Amino acid sequence: MTSPPPPTPHDNAIAARNGSAIRGARTPVLEVHDLAKSYPGEPPVQALGGVSLTIGPGELVGIVGPSGSGKTTLLQLMGTLDRPSSGHVRITGLDVATMPDNEVTYLRATRIGFVFQQFFLAEHSTVLDNVADGLLYAGVPLTERRERALDALELVGLAGRPRARPTQLSGGQRQRVAIARALVGQPAIVLADEPTGNLDQATGHAILALIDELHRAGSTIVVVTHEHAIVERMPRKVEILDGHIVADTGPAADADLGPLDERCTRAPQRSPRTSGSEEPS
Ligand SMILES: Nc1ncnc2c1ncn2[C@@H]1O[C@H](COP(=O)(O)OP(=O)(O)OP(=O)(O)O)[C@@H](O)[C@H]1O
Ligand SMILES: [Mg+2]
Repeated sequence: MTSPPPPTPHDNAIAARNGSAIRGARTPVLEVHDLAKSYPGEPPVQALGGVSLTIGPGELVGIVGPSGSGKTTLLQLMGTLDRPSSGHVRITGLDVATMPDNEVTYLRATRIGFVFQQFFLAEHSTVLDNVADGLLYAGVPLTERRERALDALELVGLAGRPRARPTQLSGGQRQRVAIARALVGQPAIVLADEPTGNLDQATGHAILALIDELHRAGSTIVVVTHEHAIVERMPRKVEILDGHIVADTGPAADADLGPLDERCTRAPQRSPRTSGSEEPS
């Protein structure tokens, strides 16, 4: 069987504007190929040296490595927050390298959700508006933004606190808000950088249970961490050392690597069992 020709820059641009993906029989959600990144300096820092990774729809992937191994660098390149020194990043089949900045911004706003160790919530906005702002750059009107934000808060067990300010929440609840903000646009993939790094162990476990529930409900999620205990529980484990992938268990046997059509934009269907209001702060 012959594979279809690779998408041209023109195909990419049209697909990005239309909000669609370049669809092949088994289009991955995210592909990085031979990705390298060096930061300028005396001498320059080679943070990543030729990383290749393919992530299919519905996967939950844990990337683990020691401090300075290149995890955040890799996540930022996968999330189009930075450009690689060389190599390729494809999101839902779209080659980021061929896109002008405004199209990359739109792609990022509509297809990628981010969760960070430091939460990055706006302290003076309500919980509802922090989540609703996740749709700001996708051109969704305010009323709909807030409706969808409430749905996302329901998913993370925080629908009862829409008018609270982040300062009135526990650390675990703040991270739930950040996760709701990442999910509200129904992105193709959620990228989480040390999502439990600022939480105590019990609260961290509750957040990992939530991530697991979201994965079971259909979300595609990548978690980077320096803690081996966290990735041990994930269906796919990738190990990074000195800017190179040194181990990858590959997609889980039950991973859905079929057509992207249904899964990449599918919202999780049910609320997780865990409740945000019951965890310790
Ligand atoms: N903006 C930058 N300028 C120069 N060097 C950088 C920059 N960002 C990262 N580095 C270097 O690149 C390497 C990889 O850093 P990165 O932040 O990706 O590691 P990490 O695995 O996320 O570490 P940690 O677990 O501590 O968060 C490190 O040597 C780091 O010092
Ligand atoms: Mg890091």
